[in-house]
Amino acid sequence: MTLIIAIDGPAASGKGTLARRIAVHFGLPWLDTGLLYRAVARDVMANGGDLEDVAAAAAAARLIVAETLVDPALRGPKAGDAASIVAKIPEVRAALLDYQRAFAAQGGGAVLDGRDIGTVVCPHAAVKIFVTASDEARAKRRFLEHQARGEDVTYDDLLADIRRRDERDRGRSAAPMLAAADALHLDTTELDADQAYEAVMKLIKARVAGG
Ligand code: DC
Repeated sequence: MTLIIAIDGPAASGKGTLARRIAVHFGLPWLDTGLLYRAVARDVMANGGDLEDVAAAAAAARLIVAETLVDPALRGPKAGDAASIVAKIPEVRAALLDYQRAFAAQGGGAVLDGRDIGTVVCPHAAVKIFVTASDEARAKRRFLEHQARGEDVTYDDLLADIRRRDERDRGRSAAPMLAAADALHLDTTELDADQAYEAVMKLIKARVAGG
């Protein structure tokens, strides 16, 4: 049986942690598609290019390989912000689509998380989840993560970053962040990581059992 699970939602909604745990549960490979956009932005900047330069960003997107996604520098808020700028470019999205679809087509299936997995990348996924949380809850999560790593960021800056990114990701014309019509919704505002995982597993099991 092939099981493709699409997890979409805004930054810091908890979708990455959920996707990783779901993948472990089902023994499936997991792709954090945000890393692809983060790596494109990194490579454009490393080449001295401008993030809005369509040709430079599309060229970087065509050269993305799995090995370069394992890079701690891709994790921070600056990398996320830069990623959402290149993610507006249709040529970048088109270049990354093949990579994502090939990943999803592996035997047995896969778990992918991002913004447009249920709508564009895997519209036929058996299970689609759209994860949300309030802006404040998401900023607080990010703040605690950065604080634990001893990084110097403020809650207000993170809240502003999250709102700016949401607006860009929702407002773009190419594959905007959007829940698929058949997505199951999960609001994690009031849930810790374990509660969110239990809730999402309930949704998935009900969807898989229901066919
Ligand atoms: O999930 P993330 O925060 O790592 O994503 C970084 C940015 O990449 C996000 O703000 C928008 C873009 N992105 C996208 O446009 N489509 C995806 N499937 C995943 C990420």
